[in-house]
Order: sequence, then C-alpha cells, then structure tokens
Amino acid sequence: MAQKFILICCALLAGLLARTQENNSLNLMPVPVLLTAHPGRVDIGEGFRVSVRGKPDRRIFAEASRFVRRLSERTGIFLDHQGFVSPSDSSPSAALLIQIRRPGSLKLGEDESYSLESGGGQVILSAVTDIGAIRGLETLLQLVSADEKGYFFPGLSIRDYPRFAWRGLLLDVALHFMPVDQIKRTLDGMACVKMNVLHLHLCNDQGFRVESRRFPRLQQVASDGVYYTQQEIRELVAYASQRGIRIVPEFVVPAHTTAILTAYPQWASVKRKYSLQRYFGVFDPVMDPTNERLYPFLDTLFSEMASLFPDAYFHIGGDENTGKDWQSEPHIRRFMAERGMKSFMDLQTYFNRRLLPIIEKNGKTMMGWDEILQPGVPKQIVIQSWRGNASFYGSLRQGYRAILSYGYYIDLIQPASYHYQNDPIPDSAALSAQEQQRVLGGEATMWSELVSPLTVDSRIWPRTAAIAERLWSPRSVTDTEDMYRRLDIISLGLEALGLRHRTYKQVLLRQLAHGDDTRSLEVLSDLIEPLKIYERNQGDTMYTVFSPLTKLADLASPDQPQPRIFSREVDSFLLHPSPALRQLLWDKLNCWKQNDALFQRLLLGAPVLREAAGLSRNLSLLAGAGLDAMEALDAGRKMDGAWLEQQLLVAARARQQGGRCELQVVDAVQRLIERAAR
Ligand code: ACM
Repeated sequence: MAQKFILICCALLAGLLARTQENNSLNLMPVPVLLTAHPGRVDIGEGFRVSVRGKPDRRIFAEASRFVRRLSERTGIFLDHQGFVSPSDSSPSAALLIQIRRPGSLKLGEDESYSLESGGGQVILSAVTDIGAIRGLETLLQLVSADEKGYFFPGLSIRDYPRFAWRGLLLDVALHFMPVDQIKRTLDGMACVKMNVLHLHLCNDQGFRVESRRFPRLQQVASDGVYYTQQEIRELVAYASQRGIRIVPEFVVPAHTTAILTAYPQWASVKRKYSLQRYFGVFDPVMDPTNERLYPFLDTLFSEMASLFPDAYFHIGGDENTGKDWQSEPHIRRFMAERGMKSFMDLQTYFNRRLLPIIEKNGKTMMGWDEILQPGVPKQIVIQSWRGNASFYGSLRQGYRAILSYGYYIDLIQPASYHYQNDPIPDSAALSAQEQQRVLGGEATMWSELVSPLTVDSRIWPRTAAIAERLWSPRSVTDTEDMYRRLDIISLGLEALGLRHRTYKQVLLRQLAHGDDTRSLEVLSDLIEPLKIYERNQGDTMYTVFSPLTKLADLASPDQPQPRIFSREVDSFLLHPSPALRQLLWDKLNCWKQNDALFQRLLLGAPVLREAAGLSRNLSLLAGAGLDAMEALDAGRKMDGAWLEQQLLVAARARQQGGRCELQVVDAVQRLIERAAR
C-alpha cells in the first residue's frame, strides 16, 4: 500500500516536472534564456495594432509589417486595416508596442537581445537594436495560442539573448545550384530560428556561381549557365539584411578550383586540359602559387567579389588540397626547396599569406577551413573546424577565433539529437575563459552533392532548428525529448513560411507512383532513411551532377518521426503492456506486413521503384516476426532458441540497404522479438 502511494506520488511529481519543463519552454525554439509565465493574456482581434518607438533602422518597419501578415495568416483574422507599419505608427497603447534604442548594424557581435512583456492587453517588445526586435518578433509568433475564446498571446515575461554570436548555415550552391527563391526561403527559415549567418559556398570543381564582369569566362564556361547575376547577389544580400542575417561568401582556393581553371587554365599548377568536374569528391587540380601573375588575378577577382558582399568576413576555403599537382611539378618543387619549405602545406601557408593583404585591403577578415591552420598563419584569420574537435580546440588554444562545423554536417543524414548534443564548449574540452571567448559559434553545413532545389529543404529542416537552438539557448537546455517535441511544432511553422521540407514528399510520391495510388509507397517511405555519412554515394563513385535526385533515397528524409515514435511505443509497451498500446503496435505491424502486397502491385507500373522491392518484402517479414512475438507475449508463451535464431535472421535481412535506403524500425521490432524469447 505504502509502496503504491509512493509510486503514485512519484508519477504525479514526474507529471508536474514534465509540465513545468513544458511551461518553461512552451513551444519555443530556440528556448529563451528566461521565461516567466503570468496569469494574464493579450487577445488577438481585428483591432490588433503594432507601433514602433525609439530609434530603429528602417528594416523594422518591413519586418513588423511582415509580422502582422504572418499573424493574420496564422489566425485567419483580418489584420489588414493597419496596412504597412510605418514610423507614424507610434502609439504607446498599441496592442504590440516595439521599443528600440538604436539602429542595429549587421556585424558580428551586434546586440540581438530582446525582452517581451505580455499581459494586461498589451505586448511590449523591447530591444537595444531592431535586429534584437526581429528576433523577438519570431518568438512572439511562436507564442500564438488558442482556446475556445480565440487567439491570444499568453501572459509572460521573456528575457533573451544568444549564447554565440555566429549562428550559421552553409549553403553549397556550387555542387548543385540553388535558385534565388530557394535561398530566400532558407533565409526565412533561418530568421524563424534566430540564425544570423548564411555562408554561401559559391564555387568548386563543378561550377563558379557568381557573375564576374572582370572575368566573364567564369560564368560563360565554368557555370553550366547556372549562376547568380550581380544584381541577384545584391537582392539576396538585401533580403538577408532585412531578416537581420549576414551573408558570408566563400570562394575556395587554391584547391577545389577546377571550375576557375576551366575558365582560366593559365593559373593551374599542371598544364593540362581542364573541364568542369561531373563527379564529387577531392581532386588534384590546384592553382600555382609560384606564379606571380596569379596574385593580381586573385586581387582583381576577390576585390570584385568582395564588393558584392558587404559583410566583414570573406572565406577563402583552403580545404582538401591533395598537393599532388604541386609535388609533380619540378618548378614548384624548386620553389619550395629555395625557400626551405618542407611540405606542400608550407606552400599553402605561403599562398594564404599572399592572399591576406588582398582580403584585408578590401576591409575584410579572412577565414578558412581548418586545413589552413599551419605554423605561421596570422592570428587574425578565423578558422572553421570541420575535420574534428581537435582542430577546433587547437585553433582556440593557439589564439585563433574559431567556428565549429564538425558535428553539424547536416548533409550526412544524422538525427537532430546527434547535432543537438554537439556543444561547442563541452566540459571535456577544458577550455580557459579566454579560449571560450574565441569560440564565435557554429555553422550547420548543407553540402549539395545529393540535393536538388526540390529536396534540399528536407535536408536542412527541421533538423537545423536543433542546431540553431544549441547555438542560441543556454548550455543547460539539453532535454532531447523536449527538443523533438518542439521540433515537430517548429517544423509546421517553417512550412508556413513556404519551406518545402514536408510537401516535397507529395510531389515525389506522385511522380514515383506514376499516377497510381501512392499509399503503399508512403507507408514504406515513412519508415526508411537514406544511407548515412558518405555511404549513399559509394565513395563518390555513383552520382554525378546530372544524376536524378528523384528516387527513393530522395523521397526518404532524415530523422523520420514515425520510427522514433514507434521505438518509444515499443519501449513503453515492454515496460507496461497496456491493451491500448498493444493494439496500436499490432495495427502498425499488421499494416506494414500487408503493405508489401500493395507495393509489389505498384511496382508493376513503376519500374523506378523496383530497387525498393527487397526493402518492402523485408519490412513485411520483419513485421510478421514482430506480430508473432506479440502473440507469444500475449499468451505468456516463451519462444524457443530456434525460433529466435530464425527471427533474428529476418531482422538482419531487414537491415540490408535497398535503393540506397535503410529501414529504421528494425531495432525496435528486434526488441519485441528478443523479449518473446526471454
Ligand atoms: C569540407 O567539408 N570539405 C570543408
């Protein structure tokens, strides 16, 4: 009896704690620094008005107007009476009063703090800069609540500011080009989760993507006709600025330059014919740093490119130089020997030192990937770590400022929880206070080997929201379950902004099913994920820039919710086998078992899907094994070793890839199977 009482108390307490946790974060992503709930509320009705007071930059008026439109779209309330929010809208009693002390400027470390007070019929959003106010408007939109009386903002106080000043997303538009509209919607998504740097990777072996007036062969022969005009670049910079987001350009040198060398082969180390790379990976072509005339070329090109991007940072890449095209050239070996250079990395450092004044005379700080961290590299350069934490901590210890991307490679299809746990300053690093201060922040990286404009949103979102939270919210915010709860909510908010990470599936489902019923394909595709890390591309041998990205592995998205939910349900069932949970699992397994017959019929008219035949059959067999296990558990019958061995074989088979995808429910079903034999 006493034990039961204690159990009930524990359950109540756990429920209360869960609710408190929920109240602390509500549905916000990223979680704010401080949130206190109050009893009051602010109703949202047709009379809802916004006013701006203080000394903001003009960008706040467009953003406040956009806020009103989004609020109107979210609630269906006609809030169009105010029209465009203008400086004349400055009533202190407006339902939303925005107070701003000074104009913000788009620079690293600008004040992005804000506070929100709501209750008593008014929301007051206060910020030092309009950029802080823009962050606060995003929070406010996430706070829209509803009950039987209508829509409202709950009563609360929020005080919020970022943990790191650099919260970036790298978008690679070189390997696969992304149209202007895709970048704009990416910027909208970034603003929604308070990210503030879009790092555009603008050239690589496969193409050079910016119009150059000084060297027009770059777009004429090295872009396949897909590149941004200078006007489009200015448009993107203005669009990002409106959202309080900086754009940092990357022009990678001296390696990964096949595109530049295709247009201007005179700058290559090895004299050979160059043409755009169609495969992905690491290649030998590299610029010749011993050629004095290379530097005026880079000066002219980088000065032209720097003039298009007002940001104070300029990324020169510097990664993945094989050095082979340097070692094979006698004149380069001689150059190195004359200067006492021992390795080709010494030569690359020489090259970087020559670049530095070119970048700095354009008023920029130079940055590069962690390969450029070599003895003798000037301390003002910012290092972006991608090869491991060691290079990150090493940069900090040697006095460099650094950005972490290792652990944030979203192109590798790992779950949001993996990225979420990757703290830039973990205890284990034992960094001094000074070293910690040199951590600028982090960047998610969306390399585009295997994405198209149709699928790229699904590789960025919603997982990047978890990284955004890691970089904005206090370090103590680490509850992965709660992160996933809020991730599912922010995913809908991102969709409302026009991102296609969910809807693209419908397009591909219909296309792949070739006009037939898509249901069986949908059942299968919700349970699979593309092969992770670098496996899908079989060591860079399978895909070229022209390969179709409209297949099963493109339909399958990363970190699928259904397997995650199923796994949680199986664990709950094994702990407390309630009839309701039993029925739920039974229905799912039964659906998966039956699905194969429908799917094999679909294949008759959709040959593109034949690569998934094995996956579907294996899912059916696996589900059958799961059903057998549940029957045994129902009957309290312990299955024998021979049965277990056979079912484990079924599970092992279900782990085989098909169509470059893997089933994600095998572990959970295997837990059922193993329990039945225990
Ligand atoms: C990189 O991923 N090569 C920076």
